[in-house]
Amino acid sequence: MNESFWELDKVFKRENYFSVVFYHFIMGELLISKTGMCTHNKSIADVGGGIGYIGKNLASGSFSLRCGHIVDIPERVVVLENSDDMLSFGKQRFRQLSNLEYRKFNLADPLQEDLREQFDIIISISVIHNLDYSQQPKAFENLLSLAKPNGEFLYVDVILEDTEYELIQELKSNSDQLTTYVLDRSLEVSTASSLPLGNAIYPHIKQVILYNPILSPINTLRDEYPLRVTDVRTMLHNSGFNIISEGDVPGFAFFKYFYSKRVVG
Ligand SMILES: C[S@@+](CC[C@H](N)C(=O)[O-])C[C@H]1O[C@@H](n2cnc3c(N)ncnc32)[C@H](O)[C@@H]1O
Repeated sequence: MNESFWELDKVFKRENYFSVVFYHFIMGELLISKTGMCTHNKSIADVGGGIGYIGKNLASGSFSLRCGHIVDIPERVVVLENSDDMLSFGKQRFRQLSNLEYRKFNLADPLQEDLREQFDIIISISVIHNLDYSQQPKAFENLLSLAKPNGEFLYVDVILEDTEYELIQELKSNSDQLTTYVLDRSLEVSTASSLPLGNAIYPHIKQVILYNPILSPINTLRDEYPLRVTDVRTMLHNSGFNIISEGDVPGFAFFKYFYSKRVVG
C-alpha cells in the first residue's frame, strides 16, 4: 500500500469527529429538511466526492428522506473525483455496495461525453472553490451538464456575500487581519446558530465548530478561490437552472447552499 494511503488515513482519523458532524449535519439537516430531495431509484453524481463518505451514505440509504418508501435507495451513486489517492482510499475503506461506483473525473477537463445528462441529482460539496477563478466558469458548466433535463443540483461551497467577498480579497494581503476577521466571524456564526438535529446527535457540536474556524476557513479564504453569491446565481441561471432555495449553512461560517432544478428544454 502506498505512503499516501497512510497519510490520508491519519488525516481522516484526526478529522473524523469533525467530518462526521459536518456531513451528518449538512446531509441530515440540509439535504433532507431544507430540500426535501427524494433519492429513491435516482441516479446521483457526487462531484469532487472525495473518498465517497457522502456517496456511500447516499447509496446505502442512510441520508434518505423516506419519500414513501421504508428506505430510499438510489439506483446508482457515482463518486466523480480527480484525486487518485481519494479514489483508492475510498474504494479500500468503504464496504462495496452494488449501487456505488468511483470514477476518475476532472472538472477542469472537457466533459467526458458518456457522462453528459446522465444524472437525476448532482451533488457537489466544497469543491469548486479549489479551482482557480479562470477555471470556475467552465467547471460549473461541466458540473451542470451532468444533469438530465429536470435534474436537481445541490451545491454547497465557500460562497460569500458580495460585500464580504470584496473585503476578503482586500484582507488577503494582510494575514493577521484576515485571521482576526475569520475567527470573529466564525465564532459569531457558531454561537448564534441553532443546531437542533446536530445538538441532539452530537452534544459537543459547538466545541467542534469552535475548532473548525482555526483549521480550514483561514487557509481556504487566503489560498483558494471562494465564490461570490451573485456569480453563482448568474452561472445557474445561464445554464438553465431555477433556484429552488438558497441560504447559509447554519453553524458554518462562509458556507452557503443552493438547491436548484434544471428547466426542461
Ligand atoms: C474539500 S474536499 C470535499 C470532498 C467531498 N465533496 C466531501 O464533501 O467530503 C474537495 C474535493 O474536491 C476534489 N477536487 C478538487 N479539484 C477537482 C477537480 N478539478 N475535479 C474533480 N475533483 C476535484 C478534491 O480531490 C477533493 O476530494
